[in-house]
Amino acid sequence: MSWAGVVDQYRARLPVGDTQAVTLHEGNTPLIEVPQLAREIGLDARVFVKYEGLNPTGSFKDRGMTVAITMAAAAGSRAVICASTGNTSAAAAAYAARAGMKAFVIVPEGKIALGKLSQALMHGAQVLEVKGGFDEAFEVVSGVAEARPVTVVNSINPYRLQGQKTAAFEICDTLGRAPDFHILPVGNAGNITAYWMGYSEYHDEGITSSRPRMMGFQAAGAAPIVEGRRVEKPETVASAIRIGNPVSWKQAEAARDESGGAINAVTDEKILDAYKLLAATEGVFAEPASAASIAGLIALHEEKVISAGATVVCTLTGHGLKDPTTAIDVNGGSTKIPADVATAIKVMGL
Ligand code: F0G
Repeated sequence: MSWAGVVDQYRARLPVGDTQAVTLHEGNTPLIEVPQLAREIGLDARVFVKYEGLNPTGSFKDRGMTVAITMAAAAGSRAVICASTGNTSAAAAAYAARAGMKAFVIVPEGKIALGKLSQALMHGAQVLEVKGGFDEAFEVVSGVAEARPVTVVNSINPYRLQGQKTAAFEICDTLGRAPDFHILPVGNAGNITAYWMGYSEYHDEGITSSRPRMMGFQAAGAAPIVEGRRVEKPETVASAIRIGNPVSWKQAEAARDESGGAINAVTDEKILDAYKLLAATEGVFAEPASAASIAGLIALHEEKVISAGATVVCTLTGHGLKDPTTAIDVNGGSTKIPADVATAIKVMGL
């Protein structure tokens, strides 16, 4: 049997009744053990990455979007709208196309990675770029939705987090237990909230006997939860998490505190180091924001937070191909040579 997508696979755990799913067969992403990365950083633990970049539109957003669009379509909605740093807009555009609905996406001008912008356009969304960041874009979305009959598919839409919690189910289903630590990037703070919901549900029902400590990481230039105040002009190379006033701020703090976890910051430099290290040591390509979880893993190891033999899961939220510009930049591009064997051998150092 092929995987039916998160609505049908986890229907009994989602508030969808028997509504017919709008799906691209999202979910069922691989949980990949990364022993070479662990060895490289000197960590004696079992480290896994949940490779959410392998969802249909290349990010974890598909899990929530299938549920949100399923319910919007069932309610007769003709149009959806979202603010986004890119991935939500790509997912909204794709699932809206699948449902025969119109999508409007509002994004920060010039701050959307190329892959994400191309997706929203290809799926037929109307893309509006606004001056400012995600937070300003979200204010526009809220205003439009108050005045016109469009369904907001940002994470204030409760179906989004419901869908996203299924990643925690999959991790527990695969490991046969909950991990000891779950590390993930934090932007609008929906995903950390959703994972905690998923882990807690399995635990409450006795499917798992423990819950992980939730370890969230913000980029140092966009770390409102860490600093305890709204950041007016967030800046980071990890454009997906360039957010100064997260919508799920309070819920993320609750997940952190109930789990005995932490929400810390990592610098852009550490994010880019981790981004390269993961791709080079394990063959796994994730976008810069996703690498915040690997930078976080390294930081937690340096602080001796992770005990020997622990089971650790890092979410890689989006595929590396989402942001080819940064990938090429950090490597300084390629070497150009004439089409000549002798030169090739010389340049290769063989
Ligand atoms: N990683 C990636 C690749 C993301 O796209 C996002 C959020 C996050 C991490 C953070 O997740 O917001 O639930 O804390 N992207 C949103 C967007 C904001 O518009 O695509 P979060």
